[in-house]
Amino acid sequence: MARYLVTSAIPYINGIKHLGNLVGSQLPSDVYARYLRGRGHEVMHICATDEHGSPAELAAQKAGKPVAEYCAEMHEVQADLARGFDMAFDHFGRSSSPQNHELTQAFAAALDANGLIAKVTEEQVYSVTDGRFLPDRYIEGTCPNCGFDSARGDQCDNCTKQLDPTDLIEPRSTISGATDLEVRETVHLHLRQSQLKGELADWIESKHDWPVLTTSIAKKWLNDGDGLQDRGITRDLDWGVPVPGLEGKVFYVWFDAPIAYIASTAEKFEDWERWWRTDKGAEDVTYVQFMGKDNVPFHTLSFPATILGSGQPWKLVDYIKSFNYLNYEGGQFSTSRGRGVFMDQALSVLPSDYWRWWLMSNVPETSDSQFTWEAFQQGVNKDLADVLGNFVSRVTKFCRSKFGEEVPDGAYGEEEQALTEELARRVRLYEGHMEAMEFRKATAELRAIWVAGNEYLQETAPWAVFKTDPARAAGIVRFALNLARLYAVLSRPFIPAAAETLRAALATDLDWPSDMGAALDTLEPGHAFTVPDNLFAKITDEQREDWQERFKGR
Ligand code: MF3
Ligand code: ZN
Repeated sequence: MARYLVTSAIPYINGIKHLGNLVGSQLPSDVYARYLRGRGHEVMHICATDEHGSPAELAAQKAGKPVAEYCAEMHEVQADLARGFDMAFDHFGRSSSPQNHELTQAFAAALDANGLIAKVTEEQVYSVTDGRFLPDRYIEGTCPNCGFDSARGDQCDNCTKQLDPTDLIEPRSTISGATDLEVRETVHLHLRQSQLKGELADWIESKHDWPVLTTSIAKKWLNDGDGLQDRGITRDLDWGVPVPGLEGKVFYVWFDAPIAYIASTAEKFEDWERWWRTDKGAEDVTYVQFMGKDNVPFHTLSFPATILGSGQPWKLVDYIKSFNYLNYEGGQFSTSRGRGVFMDQALSVLPSDYWRWWLMSNVPETSDSQFTWEAFQQGVNKDLADVLGNFVSRVTKFCRSKFGEEVPDGAYGEEEQALTEELARRVRLYEGHMEAMEFRKATAELRAIWVAGNEYLQETAPWAVFKTDPARAAGIVRFALNLARLYAVLSRPFIPAAAETLRAALATDLDWPSDMGAALDTLEPGHAFTVPDNLFAKITDEQREDWQERFKGR
């Protein structure tokens, strides 16, 4: 058995995430981690909330709360939603933890010791009234390009022009509204990542098996000039990891956030170093990261620059699985306009398995994909209700009515032999897709495996056979009950709640099938079970229209 470290990009603290965020990181990482556990591997599965940066401060301000309190509350909200979606994280930590403070400062010290940190004097806007330097987002004014009167210091939201705070006409502080702003000199730390360009290029070049989406973004950033310029890793904020020796400054959120993968492990596990230090047991760990495509430059260049530049034996990522975007009903999800389905709303409408299955079978893997209520209704009704749910219900109910609630005694014949062989072949394919993290292909194969069971029932027709040959019908039913168990095992990474319902009803274990013949002989004659409640309800047209209306946004 092997050891796998699996991390999901850590969601920003401000606000509840939508289904597009979910399907780009937490959900696929959970499916993969569950699969690996199902195969008996040792897995460490980590996520956290990304709590620093000016968006967090601004969101707290808007909520009228001290930022620490706001983050603590929102962390609980997001952790609860992760649990609601059955995310089996070993830990869902916080980038604001003491462990992350300590590790972030230690990484900066190591980089400094290796000559990779430069102190740079910059000119920055200072607010006399507020008594502090103002980061770009804390300055608003009139856009020199379009005249919009609430353009931000970094960008105009009206015409999208990228701005410098000094471009703004009549700039003011968003903290106090003060206009007594002046440009002053201040010292910031820069990470000299350009020094690491060769080493990073070699490392990326060696990753022949990475998905195209990941390497193409990485190489573009590596070679297009801008990507590997030295960059400021400190900001003028109060909330964050303090920079030793630089009063009033904290590390840039993108510097400390990936370090939180390590810190989150350390928050919970005393032996965290055996996952993260190659001198302390992590040399045989395979490390896989999951993220949306906008996160790829930070994980292929910035974070590896931190790790390599430290000169210390930290575990580098082995495989980066990245995703395109999920759109919503012909447009984008929009937090500000409340457009689309957000994690809390999704769970208020249907249980998590419905979402998990549809999202993963439509994951934006090779291109952007789209959520529509019609496609969702169709996918759920067909795959989950008509195929899987119907199979389980037919088999268990038929058995109860003819043989009672225990596995009947009947022999397997040619049909069973043939399907066993077909399933052995299909399950090997399914395993291959899961190992390659090709989730579209994996869900298609899983669906085909469910369909094969329905076809088998259709062809063998135990309800007809029973009238003339009950012993033969008993064999069919015993086989079909074992199929239901197999489906629970195979489907568990995607629909863990239904798998557990099925496992409990069949009073069995969910060991992975290594030998298909043996796997389909697990439930023996006389084994008692109960008929589970309907696994999945169909989505009606009325519900669909109702939800369509409810989530269309302003
Ligand atoms: N919070 C970022 C986002 O949602 C992801 C941070 S991933 C990490 O896009 F590596 F920085 F942790
Ligand atoms: Zn503008």
